[in-house]
Amino acid sequence: MEPLILNINHRNYQIFQVEKNETLLSVLRYRLDITGPKEGCSTGDCGACKVLLDGVAVNACTTLAHRCAGKTIITIEGIADAGNLHPLQTAFVEKGAVQCGFCTPGMIISAKALLDVNPKPSRDEIRKALDNNLCRCTGYVKIVDAIEEAAEMMRKDDHE
Ligand code: FES
Ligand code: FES
Repeated sequence: MEPLILNINHRNYQIFQVEKNETLLSVLRYRLDITGPKEGCSTGDCGACKVLLDGVAVNACTTLAHRCAGKTIITIEGIADAGNLHPLQTAFVEKGAVQCGFCTPGMIISAKALLDVNPKPSRDEIRKALDNNLCRCTGYVKIVDAIEEAAEMMRKDDHE
């Protein structure tokens, strides 16, 4: 069987003996030890496992690994820039949008996918972008606040 080559966080990985039905989440967490994407429901319902696949937020638990060959995969580990936290990560901490933290990687991935195409979203647009991300702890308001704050920080950075 040919090894599967996946580009993850700007680096190529060669993975051997990948079964046709093996998910991207399984490859990330259990073969490559990339554990930022969390395993919650494993059925595509909670969003804890989200990654960016060619810039689109997808659930890694319902994405087959071999379908990701030739695509760009970014996990939460890959969104910081040269060791500096991404503005979304900073804003989540500052706004108290992280409690247990289990949903946070998926939330930030969904938010990044939104801000990459819509730098100034309304609160409704933010809520819509998170409609596949569940959080048991925060009540969502602080998460929406954090994404608004990050969007503002990113717009300022763009103008500097
Ligand atoms: S673990 Fe993938 S959506 Fe819940
Ligand atoms: S912070 Fe605990 S599930 Fe969201």
